[in-house]
Amino acid sequence: MEDLKAKILALKKEKNAVILAHYYQDTDIQDIADYVGDSLGLSQEATKVEASIILFAGVHFMAETAKILNPSKKVILPDLNAGCSLADSCPADAFKTFKEAHPNHLVITYVNCSAEIKALSDIVCTSANALKIVESVPKETPIIFAPDKNLGRYISNETGRELLLWDGSCIVHEAFSLEKLIDLYQQNPDAEIIAHPESETHILKTAHYIGSTAGMINYVKNSSCEKFIVATEASILHKMQQEVPNKILIPAPSKEDNTCACSECAYMKVNTLQKVYDCLLQETPEIIVPEAIRKQALVPIERMLELSN
Ligand code: 13P
Ligand code: SF4
Repeated sequence: MEDLKAKILALKKEKNAVILAHYYQDTDIQDIADYVGDSLGLSQEATKVEASIILFAGVHFMAETAKILNPSKKVILPDLNAGCSLADSCPADAFKTFKEAHPNHLVITYVNCSAEIKALSDIVCTSANALKIVESVPKETPIIFAPDKNLGRYISNETGRELLLWDGSCIVHEAFSLEKLIDLYQQNPDAEIIAHPESETHILKTAHYIGSTAGMINYVKNSSCEKFIVATEASILHKMQQEVPNKILIPAPSKEDNTCACSECAYMKVNTLQKVYDCLLQETPEIIVPEAIRKQALVPIERMLELSN
């Protein structure tokens, strides 16, 4: 394993590549990355890359966003099967029909969607800035929010605005068991529950803090509390624990009786250290976005980045 890591680091240098990784990647991949972050941070970082190759250790829509933002770079993804249930829940044809049925609505899409969907959008958002972006729209403007109904519902409750929601969701964040979470909290009443807003309303209602993956890490760092139950993909605990080595972090329990008793994103986990090496060596699979789509998709992403400053 250490040998493979050393080989990747040497190859990265030789090929003038950078590795951008999401917090949900396997810990070994996070450890060899140049930057580990949430969707917003990764998009911002992608715009700054000067190296020739971006190896994106994350899922397809994230790599695609990097390519849209920095098209002169070769963007490669260790495994093209690294998809996303949310992105899959919003096919472009069906979404186009939905949008056409509501021509007066402004379209805000969560970054977890394909380039085609972004190209049909007015503003993109991530979990870190969705609230700010919805609030930036005049109150009288009706909004379509897609594809995540759970995030949409959360933003609607927070802003008091009615949002027309697409019926999509994340299988990883819908896997948390409320019953087991309550049991766990009863055993750890000194803990705070922190949750990602892709989680269902009944889970979010229990949370002391709701935020993006980077937001959750920040919260844990700055809170005076010593123990947290963390309702998001379990690999976030790696970086989180490095930030707060003396605090206790417990992954929120899944409905499934799986080995980790937590919730893991199978899409993120198709990337392995070996695939990172092979991908860097062969410079494939490469992310290709047709130029017409890229240009259209860039507009709502740039709008998001401007509004996030
Ligand atoms: P973040 O924007 O918090 O990184 O979330 C990305 C994601 O896919 C959550 O499931
Ligand atoms: Fe998609 Fe959910 Fe995996 Fe995030 S955790 S990449 S939203 S399936």
